[in-house]
Amino acid sequence: MNPHTATDTLAGHPLARPRRLRRGETLRRMVRETRLSPDQLILPLFAVDGVGVEVPIPSLPGQARLSPELVAARAARAYAAGVPAVLLFGVSDDKDATATASHDPNGAVQRAVAAVKDAVPEMVVVTDVCLCAYTDHGHCGLVVDGEVENDASLEVLARAALSHAEAGADVVAPSDMMDGRVAAIRALLDAEGHSGTAILSYAAKYASAYYGPFRDAAGSAPGFGDRRGYQMDPANGREALREVELDIAEGADMVMVKPAVSYLDVIARVRDITRLPVAAYHVSGEYSMLKAAAERGWLDERLATLETLTAIVRAGSDLVITYAAEDAAHWLQEHA
Ligand code: PBG
Ligand code: ZN
Repeated sequence: MNPHTATDTLAGHPLARPRRLRRGETLRRMVRETRLSPDQLILPLFAVDGVGVEVPIPSLPGQARLSPELVAARAARAYAAGVPAVLLFGVSDDKDATATASHDPNGAVQRAVAAVKDAVPEMVVVTDVCLCAYTDHGHCGLVVDGEVENDASLEVLARAALSHAEAGADVVAPSDMMDGRVAAIRALLDAEGHSGTAILSYAAKYASAYYGPFRDAAGSAPGFGDRRGYQMDPANGREALREVELDIAEGADMVMVKPAVSYLDVIARVRDITRLPVAAYHVSGEYSMLKAAAERGWLDERLATLETLTAIVRAGSDLVITYAAEDAAHWLQEHA
C-alpha cells in the first residue's frame, strides 16, 4: 500500500501534508517551481518626434509618449533597474495610404532605436513592425478597395523592418498579422546584410478588447471596421498552433502570444510544440486594469502584478512584455 495518499491517516491524522513544505519563506523559496527574473522582462516605450517631449498617456498610467532622447533616458533607467530590453513603437502624425513614414530613416522610432543603442549599447532593442500608426485609415496593412490587402502590405512591412535594422535594432517584431510577413522580412533583411537581426513574431495575436489603451497611446485605432479580418478569433486555440508553426517555418527566431492573461492556455500549448523561446505580451488593457484597481485601493499593486507576471511564466512563457517591467524589476530585486 502506498502510504502517501491523501486519504491515509495515522491515528486519525493525515500522513501527506503539503503544508510541511510551506513552513517559512526559506523553505517555500527552495521548492518554488517558477522563478520570475528581471532578465525575462521587456519594457514597451512609445517614440514621437521632437526634443524634450513627454506626453503622459491617461489610459496607461505611468507611461508616456517620449521624444527619442527621452526614450533613451527611460530605457537607460529601466536597464539600471535590471530590465534587459525595450520594445519600441513609433507614433506619427505623418499618415498616408501607403504608410510611407513607417520606413522613414529619420522617423521617431528609427531615431529612438539609435538613441537607445547609443546611450545603452548592451540593451536589447526590439521594434514593433506594423503599419497602423502610419496609415491614414489606421489598419495594420494597406487597404485596396476597402479591404486590407495581404500581399501588397508585405513589401512595406519588410521595408519598415529593414529601416529598424539599419537604425540598429537587435530584434524586429512584426505585429500586423499579414500572412507571409515573417518570410518577407527575413528575405529583405538577409538580402540587405542584416542576417543577424532576429525576428520575434507576434505569431498568435488575437483581436482583443484589451488593446484599447494602446490605441490611445499610438493613435492607431482603425478608422473603419475592426481588425478581425487579420487578427485571431479569441475563441480559437488550435489555430494559434498553426500560426506558430507557419511563422517558425518562415524563419521566426522567437514566437509571441498576445494578450497573455486571457490566453494562458495558448501559451502552455505553444510551449509544448516549439523549442524556440516563447514570449507573451501583457497588453495595455491588462496593465491598466491592475493600475485602476490599485489606484482605488482594491488590489495590492505589487502583489497582483508579480502574481500575474509569474502566472504568465508558469504557463510557459520565457519572456514577458509588460508596461510594469521597471516596477517589477525593482520589486523582484527588493525581495530577492
Ligand atoms: C499594432 C499593435 C497593437 C499592439 C501592439 N502592436 C495594437 C493593435 O493591434 O491594435 C497592442 C499592445 C497593447 O495593447 O499593449 N499592431
Ligand atoms: Zn498594427
